[in-house]
Amino acid sequence: MQIDVLTLFPEIFQGPFSVGIFRRAVERNLVRLNIHNIRDYTDDKHHTVDDYSYGGGGGMVLKPEPIFEAVAAVTSTIKEAKVPVILLTPQGRLFNQQLAGELAAYPHLVLICGRYEGVAERVREHLASDEISIGDYVLGGGDLAAMVVIDVVVRLLPGVIGSAAATEEDSHTAGLLEYPQYTRPEVYRGWRVPKVLLSGNHAQIAQWRREQSILRTLKRRPELLGKASLSSVERRLVDEAGSSVDSA
Ligand code: ADE
Repeated sequence: MQIDVLTLFPEIFQGPFSVGIFRRAVERNLVRLNIHNIRDYTDDKHHTVDDYSYGGGGGMVLKPEPIFEAVAAVTSTIKEAKVPVILLTPQGRLFNQQLAGELAAYPHLVLICGRYEGVAERVREHLASDEISIGDYVLGGGDLAAMVVIDVVVRLLPGVIGSAAATEEDSHTAGLLEYPQYTRPEVYRGWRVPKVLLSGNHAQIAQWRREQSILRTLKRRPELLGKASLSSVERRLVDEAGSSVDSA
């Protein structure tokens, strides 16, 4: 996958993507990240990227021209006819694991990071094919949001994480939170690892994990259970556990 990011602060993308899983993915040619400075696409002496909001108030707005120019320059080098051009904004559709899965299927993404008080409406209307928010709060700009999107999407690319199972069992992948994980020692400060995990019985372990996943989701994020695909036995488990939670 190739990801092109348009930002006013290219330097802040250096840190998170020069370590760990992402770095290895780049080294193995599974992902290519190109960071472009929107300011390089201005044509005035002062490299102006923002301007006043028509009608007054509202603070400064990112001008359309440099962003249109930058997207044109980036997409002119791309073979695919339809490349998602995504504007990061608190007004976008809410990012989640499922949306990350959809984005991971594209060979190419273009991400536009807003700053200042807003982005010219004509960028939304005539340039962006999608708008994404990473949560109901306002960041200083779209850069951190773009980094979150990139981090989540790249983990899902084939070959980036050792085994596909490692991401299949992640929290949110199946609409549930992940089960508890234990590692050595078997007893730490008197706290024991659940017996079933030491049993070597893979079917029992899988069933225990699944139940833990469901019960943990019920306790912490019950609203997720409505959409999760559960067997009738598992639904009963939820009902029983739910009524004991209610009466507790
Ligand atoms: N820019 C500012 N806040 C944002 C958010 N919550 N999501 C995406 N981009 C943003």
